[in-house]
Amino acid sequence: MTVQLSVVREIAPGERRVALVPEVLKALAKSGTPVAVESGAGLAAGYPDDGYVAAGATLGSDRSAILGGAQIVLKVQPPTKEEIAAMPPGTVVVAVVNANRNLELVRRMRDARLTVFALELVPRITRAQSMDVLSSQATVAGYRATLIGAELAPKFLPMLTTAAGTIRPAKVLVLGAGVAGLMAIATARRLGAVVEGYDVRRAAGEQVRSLGAKFLELQINAEAAGGYARELTNEEKQQEAAMVADAVTQADIVITTAAIPGRRAPILVRAPMVERMRPGSVIVDLAAETGGNCELTKPGETIVAHGVTIAGPLNLPSQLAFHASQMYAKNLQSFLSLLVGKDGTLVTDYSDEILAGSLLLTGGEVRHRPTAELLAGGS
Ligand SMILES: NC(=O)c1ccc[n+]([C@@H]2O[C@H](COP(=O)([O-])OP(=O)(O)OC[C@H]3O[C@@H](n4cnc5c(N)ncnc54)[C@H](O)[C@@H]3O)[C@@H](O)[C@H]2O)c1
Repeated sequence: MTVQLSVVREIAPGERRVALVPEVLKALAKSGTPVAVESGAGLAAGYPDDGYVAAGATLGSDRSAILGGAQIVLKVQPPTKEEIAAMPPGTVVVAVVNANRNLELVRRMRDARLTVFALELVPRITRAQSMDVLSSQATVAGYRATLIGAELAPKFLPMLTTAAGTIRPAKVLVLGAGVAGLMAIATARRLGAVVEGYDVRRAAGEQVRSLGAKFLELQINAEAAGGYARELTNEEKQQEAAMVADAVTQADIVITTAAIPGRRAPILVRAPMVERMRPGSVIVDLAAETGGNCELTKPGETIVAHGVTIAGPLNLPSQLAFHASQMYAKNLQSFLSLLVGKDGTLVTDYSDEILAGSLLLTGGEVRHRPTAELLAGGS
C-alpha cells in the first residue's frame, strides 16, 4: 500500500516552524506519495495553505483524522499527549524528540506502540549530512544569536568613519565553534565586527581563521568520538577559565554555544567574569536550553546583571521559521528516501545504519539504550 504522509500544525508554545514546506511536498507528491496537511500548518512560518494545495497536498482541518489516517506523521516537536492518542499503533513518527527532556511523552509513545525516529539521533556520517537537522537548525540559531547580540548592544558593530567622528568596530567573542558558533562568527564578520572564536577542539581553529576571526587556543585538544568535544579535566578547566576570563572582559558581545552531547552545557562564563565586563556589554547564551554556558543565564529570559545584558533565548530556529522550516523539510525529504521504498511503500527493515541509529521506539520497545536506561531509572 502506498504510504500516506501527514503534517499537522505545531502547537507547542512559541513554535512557528512546520515540518514540510510546499517545495518539498511537491517533490514527494510527484513521486507518488500522498500528503495530508492540516489547514494553517505552515502559516506561522510564512507558508499559506494555497501553496500546499498547489503542491499536491490534501488539506484538512480535523487534526485527529489527519493523524489517524497516516502511516508516517512528520513533525518538528515531539507529539503532544493528544496527538499521541490520535495515532493508531504502528504509526511512524519522525520528529526531533530530545528524549532525555521529554521522558513522559516517550513513555506514552512507547505504550501507544508508535514507531518513532528521533532526528537528533541520526548518526553524523557523511551519507547522512543532508538529513542533519542538528546542523541545519544550528545554522539558523548561530545567525540569530549574532543579530540578537547586535540588537541588544548599545554599539555599532562595524568601524565607521563619519563627520561625527570615527567609530571603532565592536569586539565579538564566540565561545564554542561548532556549527552554530561558526555561523555566529560568519554573521558577526559580515556586520563588520572584530571577532574572536574559541573551542576545545583544535580542528575548529582552521575553520575560525578561515572566516577572518582570531582563534583563541589552549594547549589542549578535547576532540572525542564523532568529532564532538569531551568534558575537560579539572586542570584543563582552570586553564580554560583563565583564558576565557581575559577574552570575555574585553568583548562587547559574547556569544556562547558550547555543548557536550547528552550532558549539561559546560559553564564557561562565571559570575565574577560578568562583573568585570564593561557595562552595556552583551552575552547571548545559545546553550540556555541545556543549562547555559553563563552562570547567570536565565533560560528564556533577557536579564541585566552588573550592567551586562544576558540573553538566554530558547528555540532560536523558530524565530527564523521560514528558512528553518525549509531546511528542516529538506532534511526530512532526504530521511524519507530511506523510509519510503521505490515502490512507494513503507520500509520495514530498519537495519540501515541511519534508520537503526535514529530509531527510538518500535513495537512497544525503546531501541535507544540511553533512553531505555533513563526510563528504567525513572519508572
Ligand atoms: N555530518 C557530519 O559529519 C557533521 C555534521 C555536523 C557537525 N559535525 C561536526 O561535529 C562537531 C560538533 O558540532 P556541533 O555544532 O553539533 O557541536 P555541539 O553543538 O555539540 O557543540 C558546540 C561546540 O562546543 C564545543 N565545546 C564543548 N565544550 C567546550 C568548552 N568547554 N569550551 C569551548 N568549546 C566547547 C564543541 O567542541 C563544539 O564545537 C564538529 O566537529 C562538527 O564539524 C559533523
